[in-house]
Amino acid sequence: MITVTNGATIYGVDAKIITIEVNIVQGTNLYVVGLPDNAIKESQHRIESVLKFIKCEMPRQRVIVNLAPADIRKEGAAYDLPIALSILNSSHQYHLQDLDKYMILGELALDGSLRPIKGALPIAMLVKQYGFKGFILPKENAKEAAIVEGIDVIPIGHITEAIDFLTRKIIIKPVQAESFDKINDTLNEYELDFADVQGQENTKRALEIAAAGGHNLIMIGPPGGGKTMIAKRIPSILPPMTIDEALETTKIYSVIGKLPNGFLITKRPFRSPHHTISNIALVGGGSNPQPGEISLSNNGVLFLDELPEFSRNALEVMRQPLEERKVIISRSKVSVEFPANFMLIASMNPCPCGYYNHPTKKCVCLPVNVQKYMNKISGPLLDRIDLHIEVTPVSFEEISSKRKSESSKVIQARVIAARNIQIQRFQKFKNIYTNAMMPSAMVHDICILSETGNKLLKTAMEKLGLSARAYDRILRVARTIADLDCSENIKENHIAEAIRYRSLDRNNWGT
Ligand SMILES: Nc1ncnc2c1ncn2[C@@H]1O[C@H](COP(=O)(O)OP(=O)(O)OP(=O)(O)O)[C@@H](O)[C@H]1O
Ligand SMILES: [Mg+2]
Ligand SMILES: [Zn+2]
Repeated sequence: MITVTNGATIYGVDAKIITIEVNIVQGTNLYVVGLPDNAIKESQHRIESVLKFIKCEMPRQRVIVNLAPADIRKEGAAYDLPIALSILNSSHQYHLQDLDKYMILGELALDGSLRPIKGALPIAMLVKQYGFKGFILPKENAKEAAIVEGIDVIPIGHITEAIDFLTRKIIIKPVQAESFDKINDTLNEYELDFADVQGQENTKRALEIAAAGGHNLIMIGPPGGGKTMIAKRIPSILPPMTIDEALETTKIYSVIGKLPNGFLITKRPFRSPHHTISNIALVGGGSNPQPGEISLSNNGVLFLDELPEFSRNALEVMRQPLEERKVIISRSKVSVEFPANFMLIASMNPCPCGYYNHPTKKCVCLPVNVQKYMNKISGPLLDRIDLHIEVTPVSFEEISSKRKSESSKVIQARVIAARNIQIQRFQKFKNIYTNAMMPSAMVHDICILSETGNKLLKTAMEKLGLSARAYDRILRVARTIADLDCSENIKENHIAEAIRYRSLDRNNWGT
């Protein structure tokens, strides 16, 4: 008797249906066909052990398991449960109802208990899309799957529960998720707040602009100047995630099995990989392509602390994703895409010793070494960073003052207002919703300067020796400053401020 049920495999951040057919014919041994990897072959031994454990048996005839379609690679042990249940049904040890109407996944331990799977969220989305009756899965993954509303998520701790459920011996109540609004209210408080940062008004202003326009930013300053402390607080001033953003980011964590507590991720991620990170861990990859740090930062912040310490190669591979806001990993047969829409925040010292241009301490570096240090990050990557700011340490008086600075909530309100103006502006364009996302061709249509504004920019570029690449960047940032000012036109003071954020373009570092 042929039994058919449904599983799924993960492809990038999405799931695809895998049909599982089991038949029992004359002969011996279990055969798995349909390009399974070793894990699935190993599942034969687990299933045998489990069947014995629950006082059932592996049929003494030939069991054929077909996983279709054959041309999709299937990884992992998550097919244990649907295969075991199908064998029980095909060999008439149990009469299991509606097997073909459910999505069923779960890895079996030798005693029949279930181990969690990866990608429960995108698979649950597939369950909904295809209108399955429900999703039978390990109870650890139930909350995660229940994020998708309108499907029956049936949590299972042990294979016998699945059998009892499918023979209608017991009723299992589907797991309900809390609604997004409810989660958002309670979880959206960030622990770190700008109220803790004393002084640093210029730096905070630049960060507010970066957050408002979605601009990438680099901080240059001596050790202990507060760069790391400030960077960690950026998510607290970004607008709250929309439900779509939350789902998109949550899916990425789901496919690598790293979803904390199975909750929807409603806080913008803040990722801060060490500079020794491998290229694959940074941008994603591997023989079974996995998302890297740039995707784990999706809809949030990627902080590269001590930028010049990262390998040149690592920074090179980030260029394309920075431009396209996604990463495409190509393998011989497949190419997989992961979202990588993040705000890049970088930090660095101004020179190897850290005290170049310091107000009180003396830099001990040779000018040539300062140049060399800066050159490590020059070029194409810098091209994609809109704001450069020099962070000077605050005085002892400022640090020790008990005065509370402006809170993140207050700054965030201004950021949201400026973002709303941009959403209006770009509503006709797909996938553009901040000034930073404007393609170059659009910059000239949208960032129109008055004659005096134009003159000011021209003079500044000549005087400061700014490169041509700085031009577009300045216009985008000036547009954001005008938005924060609720000004329809870009005024001279907006341009003048934007020009100030191009320290690294001045080409006179170390001279
Ligand atoms: N503006 C500030 N307000 C309050 N505390 C500050 C401020 N600046 C620095 N500090 C204190 O100094 C500590 C060191 O700052 P932080 O580690 O952020 O500096 P950094 O610029 O990242 O230095 P490094 O270059 O060594 O990484 C902070 O943890 C904080 O306690
Ligand atoms: Mg630091
Ligand atoms: Zn130095």
